[in-house]
Amino acid sequence: MVQQFDRSQYEDVEWNPLDPHQLENPYPLYARARQERPIFFSPTFGIWYVTRYEDIMQILRQPELFSSANSFMVTTEFAPEVEAVLAEGYPIVPTLVDNDPPSHTRFKKLVGKVFAPNRVREKADEIRELAHMLIDDFVDEGRADIAWQFAYLLPMYTIGDFLGVPREDMKMIKQWSDDWLLMMSGAAPTDELVGAAHSLVRFQNYFKDMLEDRRANPQDDYISALITVREEGEEPLADLEILCLALQLMFAGHETATNLINSTLWLLLHHPEQYAEVRDKPELAAEAIEEGLRLESPVPGLIRTVTQDTEFDGIFLPKGSRLQLMYASANRDAEKFEDPDTFDLHRANKYDHLALGKGIHYCVGAPLGKLESIIAIQALLERLPNMRLAADQTFEHQPSLVMRGLKNLIVEWDPPQA
Ligand code: HEM
Repeated sequence: MVQQFDRSQYEDVEWNPLDPHQLENPYPLYARARQERPIFFSPTFGIWYVTRYEDIMQILRQPELFSSANSFMVTTEFAPEVEAVLAEGYPIVPTLVDNDPPSHTRFKKLVGKVFAPNRVREKADEIRELAHMLIDDFVDEGRADIAWQFAYLLPMYTIGDFLGVPREDMKMIKQWSDDWLLMMSGAAPTDELVGAAHSLVRFQNYFKDMLEDRRANPQDDYISALITVREEGEEPLADLEILCLALQLMFAGHETATNLINSTLWLLLHHPEQYAEVRDKPELAAEAIEEGLRLESPVPGLIRTVTQDTEFDGIFLPKGSRLQLMYASANRDAEKFEDPDTFDLHRANKYDHLALGKGIHYCVGAPLGKLESIIAIQALLERLPNMRLAADQTFEHQPSLVMRGLKNLIVEWDPPQA
């Protein structure tokens, strides 16, 4: 029987993922929600939060009822000053993460060809070389902020190299990308959002120029490949579509893997016995990455919009209701994972996590994200002997509603003798 919708029942959960305590450790609140109110409404964000593994899986299996439109935008309406700046740029065309079938299917086929796992695997040696080159810069110092000196640069340069973005532009792109992330959460004062909107327009113009250049002078890079990729029965990609895709790939291609490298290293450094196992048997880095994805999901949750009045788990959801699927909570659901808060390299079902999504929106960059994170962990453990967390630091996460990542990660090691 459909439970009568009584909003007051759902409004007493003190949910504010940007509150410093919840930001640092959201997991007890997720656990409480899974027990007491697995789907709850936040009046602050106007969003329903879905916290149990099975409920999320049910939603992911029905993309026609739960649309991915604006799936990474917590806020979709901005102040007129912000909208005015955005109007100077290009309209955002739904492509992959923010799109639904049948249009999504076309993009997935075309992008899937460009990002095919075998093409990605061919880049392993280049990525390894880059990882070691970055470590060369600080290995003699005995101390480094891995977040800034390594974990952000490796995925950023890698996806940039794939797309054909020169490395000297990366600092600028990182700033635009961080500003776009701010817009996704929308939880910032209007003047900051105006600045962020300007960044997004610059980001668009940058890729528009690059696209024009590649049309005239094709290179051996993924932007050129997106221009030429063809699939029988499908229209080739138009310029605005490639532009939106390039932005999505550039953004998703680094913020996520950066956070995964940091959090997996952080987890290993808190578990010395398992750290030693991975150091002595580097192929176990792949298992460490899976547990990093599960326990500290870099994308804690993305949004779906209900396409028609529906009833889910006894709750009436009018058409247009927005739900954030909390992958980070599902990944610690005791109904699915035994002893869910424990980091365990040898967990039998560790690949069942939802940190890369499931179903039609499964992460197109998963092979690349995993490969570079595995290489990163292997290189760090090989090159920085006796690595430990520096004692004089506190760990803080970036304030975001759609990404989870450490701001800094300072480690020390025994530097090589001169
Ligand atoms: C390793 C770290 C990564 C994590 C944790 C991650 C997480 C995710 C998640 C959770 C989704 C599902 C979205 C949904 O359910 O709506 C997704 C999709 C996606 N990811 Fe990743 N991602 C990672 C790496 C990457 C990389 C390296 C790229 C780019 C090369 C990328 C590009 C994308 C794109 C384009 C989609 C949309 C796919 C679709 O809608 O069909 N991701 N990712």
